[in-house]
Amino acid sequence: MSNVLYIKNAAELITVSGHSSKPAKKEAMSEIGIIENGSVLSKDGKIIAVGNDEEIRKEHQVLIDEAQVVDATGRVVTPGLIDPHTHIVYAGTRENEYAMRLQGKTYMEIMNAGGGIHATTRATQQATFDELYEQTNVRLDKMLLNGITTIEAKSGYGLTTEHELKQLEVAKKLNEDHQIELISTFMGAHAVPMDYKDNPEEFIDIVINEMLPEVAEKNLAVFNDVFCEAGVFTPEQSYRILEAGKKYGLKPKIHADEIESYGGAETAAKVKAVSAEHLLRASDKGIQMMAENDVIGVLLPGTAFFLMADYAEARKMIDSGMAVALSTDANPGSSPTLSLQFIMNLGCLEMGMTPEEVITATTINAAHAIDAADRIGSIEVGKDADFTMFDVKNHLMLSYQYGMNHAHTVVKRGKVVVSEGHISR
Ligand code: NIG
Ligand code: FE
Repeated sequence: MSNVLYIKNAAELITVSGHSSKPAKKEAMSEIGIIENGSVLSKDGKIIAVGNDEEIRKEHQVLIDEAQVVDATGRVVTPGLIDPHTHIVYAGTRENEYAMRLQGKTYMEIMNAGGGIHATTRATQQATFDELYEQTNVRLDKMLLNGITTIEAKSGYGLTTEHELKQLEVAKKLNEDHQIELISTFMGAHAVPMDYKDNPEEFIDIVINEMLPEVAEKNLAVFNDVFCEAGVFTPEQSYRILEAGKKYGLKPKIHADEIESYGGAETAAKVKAVSAEHLLRASDKGIQMMAENDVIGVLLPGTAFFLMADYAEARKMIDSGMAVALSTDANPGSSPTLSLQFIMNLGCLEMGMTPEEVITATTINAAHAIDAADRIGSIEVGKDADFTMFDVKNHLMLSYQYGMNHAHTVVKRGKVVVSEGHISR
């Protein structure tokens, strides 16, 4: 197979170029760099030319002659979609809790009674490495078929040193084996285990003094995340855990103001987190502080949808100058979806974002949220050749025909990994 790939003549080639050094904010989130009759040429997994098809053919005919060709006529090509917040490595499912919530029980009531995150933790602890690998592998296939080429993957269903490491080792192995790229986040502070309910400080001590050093020593994560929420970790505890992670080179992320307004956005700004996630109940002050401190807001409307809660105020956040990314939050409790396209639909229909903004939020801004925008998130010369081709005639169709999978062909590092809706192995 040729190491040159020629994606030819897209109705719209959406480059999202020009935002690799800083995330797109305000009006810049609408600048998605559409090239009509656009083509892109890559060699050895890197983009070498982008532009109008005629120009590309004029300049690169010799290379094109030896290239593998993907005809994009009548279709839309974007940078490979990036899902910057997932809890994808887990065992089991929690449809019983879904049924309970439909009867009126709340997410936190279920968790405080030993279900929720604790239920998935039990299942994940009991699973062998291979079982965890297999169950996650199936989900990754579905994400790939949905046009996702890179994800962030959190631990946090192990909650002991042994099992947190197991989760991160599974993510590492899947990153090596699967076509989707996984970037790992350590989230030992995802919940206070039931055994430590009356003494959370003892658990925090284990996270800081036992788990963090081992994760860093084994080089198993890039980020450190904590669930800052009433009844889970306080803003002060979250701050301490995130500061401790920094000493080991782990960059801070934070689950903030998901269920209650709790000072999470403010803590994100104070600790200079790369991103704060959820923000359903972020205060105006918190939004302002995040904008001023360049903390990216990773919004997860699938969680609001599934928990039947109010959505994050994306419009206000973008207009206040916060950079916004979108993600699935894929997990078995609060957002069991694998479709970033549905999240884009929700971004438009429930959070007042424009069809252009949701594309920026799932490409270049998502890349910034996982600190990889120098390499992925836009179609620009020198970057990884990651593309998703959608079977739609223009980008508006993506959020117009909602709840469907429009991904037709997916390319990761110059290799066609999904063709006509099927994984190529
Ligand atoms: O982002 N809020 C904490 N963590 C996940 C949910 C995890 C679960 O319910 O299993 C979230 O919503
Ligand atoms: Fe989450």
